[in-house]
Amino acid sequence: MSSERITVPKVRSIKVSRGFEPLTMITAYDFHSARHVDLSGAEMILVGDSLAMVVLGHSDTLSVTVSDMAYHTKAVKAADTRAMVVTDMPWMSYHTSKSDAKKAAAKLIRAGAQGVKVEGGKKRADVVKSLVDAEIPVVGHIGLTPQSVNSFGGFKVQGKDLEAARGIIEDAKAIEAAGAFAIVLEAIPNDLATEITSSLSIPTIGIGAGLNCDGQVLVYHDVLGYGVGRRPKFVKAYADVEQVSVDALSKFVKEVRTSQFPTESHTYHSAESSVGKIY
Ligand code: KIV
Repeated sequence: MSSERITVPKVRSIKVSRGFEPLTMITAYDFHSARHVDLSGAEMILVGDSLAMVVLGHSDTLSVTVSDMAYHTKAVKAADTRAMVVTDMPWMSYHTSKSDAKKAAAKLIRAGAQGVKVEGGKKRADVVKSLVDAEIPVVGHIGLTPQSVNSFGGFKVQGKDLEAARGIIEDAKAIEAAGAFAIVLEAIPNDLATEITSSLSIPTIGIGAGLNCDGQVLVYHDVLGYGVGRRPKFVKAYADVEQVSVDALSKFVKEVRTSQFPTESHTYHSAESSVGKIY
């Protein structure tokens, strides 16, 4: 793996049709998860507003604020990753005015993001353009946009009929024309994602959008099997960290109860020359 830092122009150039390998984006919300993602070799870290669900345990992403996103971005930034850091613009940070959107995005960039992600298609094209004009790189996000959960009536696959599919193709073209450097396609049929991918010159990053996108994104906790509840069909868990954690914690509880912990090697004595040192 090269140690070269991933930049916006680098990501923008990654199209499978131009001979590149598909790129990978994984979410991270703090120093350690960012380090793990970077060590995996993924090109992009997304400080996703999914943190409302996987870190805070809420049922949707609507509760997080710009300050919450900036707080987590700072922790991710501390990992000083080779992977590029993109932070989600949370709900209501870009819906009120272009000026509010620019102020919110500036807060995220100052916290350490190299770009921001904005949900929505044609309706959000103006706001995307105003951010790009202010030198703020933008990743678009269309299809199942989780901030629209109430309008959609739940987390549902989008673009299944011809009219809806046409609307999503127009969304993709509008966001590319507005200057986004990549676009996330969430929970749409494979054939629709394939058509969008071949008609755009920026990379598409799929999540539940099939194999033919220019890259794939998943949530850190989902990849690790770290969490509870039903997993969407598009998630593949590559480990069972939930079980690993509970097993380790249970061993600790058991050893405390049976006086097996702490052992001599974890214990200080007053006569030792190392008095006062904790390591
Ligand atoms: O917030 C998030 O994690 C996301 C990804 C699912 C793309 O937007």
